[in-house]
Amino acid sequence: MDAIEQILDLARWAPSGDNTQPWRFERAGPDHVVIHGFDTRDHVVYDLDGHPSEMAHGALLETLRIAATAHGLRADWTRRAQSSARPILYDVRLTRDSELQPDPLLPAITTRTVQRRPMSTRPLTAAEKADLVTAARPFEVIWFEGWSERKRVALLNFSNAKLRLSIPEAYKVHSSVIDWSVEFSEDRMPGKAIGVDPLTGHIMRWAMASWERVDFMNRYFAGTLAPRLQLDLIPGLACAAHACLLAPKALADTDDYVAAGVAMQRFWLTAERLQLRLQPEMTPLIFSRYVREKRRFTAKAGMESLIRHVTDSSEQLIGAARLPNAAFLCRLGAGPPAISRSVRLPLDSLWVKRA
Ligand SMILES: Cc1cc2nc3c(=O)[nH]c(=O)nc-3n(C[C@H](O)[C@H](O)[C@H](O)COP(=O)(O)O)c2cc1C
Repeated sequence: MDAIEQILDLARWAPSGDNTQPWRFERAGPDHVVIHGFDTRDHVVYDLDGHPSEMAHGALLETLRIAATAHGLRADWTRRAQSSARPILYDVRLTRDSELQPDPLLPAITTRTVQRRPMSTRPLTAAEKADLVTAARPFEVIWFEGWSERKRVALLNFSNAKLRLSIPEAYKVHSSVIDWSVEFSEDRMPGKAIGVDPLTGHIMRWAMASWERVDFMNRYFAGTLAPRLQLDLIPGLACAAHACLLAPKALADTDDYVAAGVAMQRFWLTAERLQLRLQPEMTPLIFSRYVREKRRFTAKAGMESLIRHVTDSSEQLIGAARLPNAAFLCRLGAGPPAISRSVRLPLDSLWVKRA
């Protein structure tokens, strides 16, 4: 592998929603790489206007920039002005810079992973928080710490999960992105990385074979209860803090979301460098945006009061004026890293196919 291949081989470890890896690579010249950024808005209810995928593009570009420093190369990228919106093209140019030091976040690139299980409740130290705040700049960090603030976020996620687990649009996503048979998945999320106990995992796996089963379990057996307790309420309490990254202005276009992805990845890699674990909690922000923009996201009847409850709780938590700037919500804390995790498609499969 030459230097550019080694850089891309590290960059592909960037996180993406449900491990979709919405990027492909093209070598356009000796020092020029084009990143083709895709999205999954056509079939993923969470990928609202493709913006979560654009955050993944930002995470990839930032990871690439960090990876390049290992070779004394500076990576500068620009988004190409285009007539057709998709895929988004990012031109990355690599230049040798003898002053450049390897970025301290380099070792965290491959070890960073989602921890969806309970974490330590040890409060974050002032030094840890200061490093995280610096990493997120120019995004501001709002912290939710202490029992009662963690409980507020945990309860929001608990209600939000009821919504998530009750609508067929989300079922369609969950049933295709979880691979129940493996501990490490190249293109999806392993069942063991989801964070439920083995019995609940078996029941979920059985139920998720069809929407009719899920709907039946939800109606007659309070089917959402065990997963919501294990995936949302307990982990929401069992962490040091929740954090929300606020953009300097209301998020509106692709560039805003790419910048959010850069900040998210710097924050997450810094947490990893500090041996803190992290889990994104993005769906309350996404559902709130649907509601703010008066867009329907489910055909299921009878969901209105739950949707209202979730969006009201998000507004109360973050503040109605700040919610349009809220780019990333997550929980974090000390503890061991996840054992089961998503891995990545091999670099060989990520080159743009030429006709
Ligand atoms: C924009 C974005 C949104 C995400 N939202 C969530 C989320 O709401 N809940 C969650 O558990 N993980 C979420 N993730 C984490 C991804 O599922 C995870 O990064 C991916 O499966 C790859 O796994 P890894 O990060 O452990 O390598 C999100 C990641 C990104 C980039």
